[in-house]
Amino acid sequence: MDLFEYQARDLFAKHGVPVLPGEVVFTPEEARAAAERMGGKAVVKAQVKVGGRGKAGGVKLAFSTDEVVEKTEQILGLDIKGHIVKKVMLAGLAKPVDEYYVSFLLDRTNRTFLAMASVEGGVEIEVVAEENPDALARIPVDAIEGVTEAKAREIVEAAKFPAELHDQIVATLKTLWTVFVEEDATLVEVNPLIKSEEGKIIALDGKVSLDENADFRHPDHEALEDKDAADPLEAAAKAKGLNYVKLDGSVGIIGNGAGLVMSTLDVVAYAGENHGGVKPANFLDIGGGASAEVMANGLEIILGDADVKSVFVNVFGGITACDAVANGIVQALELLKQKGEAVTKPLVVRLDGNNAELGRQILTDANHPLVQQVDTMDGAAERAAELAAAK
Ligand SMILES: Nc1ncnc2c1ncn2[C@@H]1O[C@H](COP(=O)(O)OP(=O)(O)OP(=O)(O)O)[C@@H](O)[C@H]1O
Ligand SMILES: [Mg+2]
Repeated sequence: MDLFEYQARDLFAKHGVPVLPGEVVFTPEEARAAAERMGGKAVVKAQVKVGGRGKAGGVKLAFSTDEVVEKTEQILGLDIKGHIVKKVMLAGLAKPVDEYYVSFLLDRTNRTFLAMASVEGGVEIEVVAEENPDALARIPVDAIEGVTEAKAREIVEAAKFPAELHDQIVATLKTLWTVFVEEDATLVEVNPLIKSEEGKIIALDGKVSLDENADFRHPDHEALEDKDAADPLEAAAKAKGLNYVKLDGSVGIIGNGAGLVMSTLDVVAYAGENHGGVKPANFLDIGGGASAEVMANGLEIILGDADVKSVFVNVFGGITACDAVANGIVQALELLKQKGEAVTKPLVVRLDGNNAELGRQILTDANHPLVQQVDTMDGAAERAAELAAAK
């Protein structure tokens, strides 16, 4: 999960990284009140989860309360690379003498953590990496040892920071590493890290990505989620613990196992070509144990999508045998009926693998009017696409 800058700033402050005061506001009126609290001077910064805000007119300095309000009015509603600005952060004004770059991230390719640092900060770091790669120091960080005093000194020297700033930057790097570890982040980036007029090191902009796999350790991270941005069906699926991604087609897809679901999307898109370009409506992996409850939850989400015209349930029985899945489907349809959400869209079911015969027999015996069985994946995809196109 990527955080907004103001959320990153809050996490930095919590752990003791030097930052300037900051307040997030949603309206010009709130901006006026906040500006008065901040002494009438502030930088107004668009809060969107995309880079290059400054260039797009999303970062503006203001030297009076009226100016803060004016800049807030200009920035709210701005479209920055497709992201509409709904809130801005007012931050204290600094006078950067120099702008640097530092980050810690998960380096998947090399199976390690990586520190990056440069004295050429403030600009897009991708450009520095491209045009002047020697100016960007890259130092691997051992997961067990972490950023010790010695490691922080190694980073500071490799990046050629001015000698008089070494102690301050070393301390900041160690604190940023604490943020990285204690918050279970996969990225902590500061661009720019500045030297102020008074010679102080301050983090002026922060980018943090949190590892959602570690959410169970961080009940406080839930509050950082951007609930506005989430698709309502995706949010409902998440609440039920389902791996669901909304797509823009009309064939609902349920499968067991991410790999099978991915290939199901492919065969449905391929079959859809014969039916006016019908496409999958979603990705939904119900995982290994396809219980009636999980199946009912999955069906409920998919049938709740007005774009869905037909549903393709594609199951390859492995550890969970097809008869269990078939019973799950029958009971799920019953559960939905009891909840007053009777199924009105056709379901194409393909069962294969462990106990397929038994599973198919269970569905045949149940004889639900909207359930059709097709024994092959391609055949079932074809049928589901045809049904969606006919609606
Ligand atoms: N609090 C501040 N006081 C003075 N100047 C600031 C302040 N915050 C930012 N700036 C100036 O504005 C520039 C851009 O700010 P910032 O890095 O936050 O946005 P950005 O880099 O455009 O956005 P992104 O990081 O999303 O690409 C900084 O490099 C700095 O020169
Ligand atoms: Mg920046």
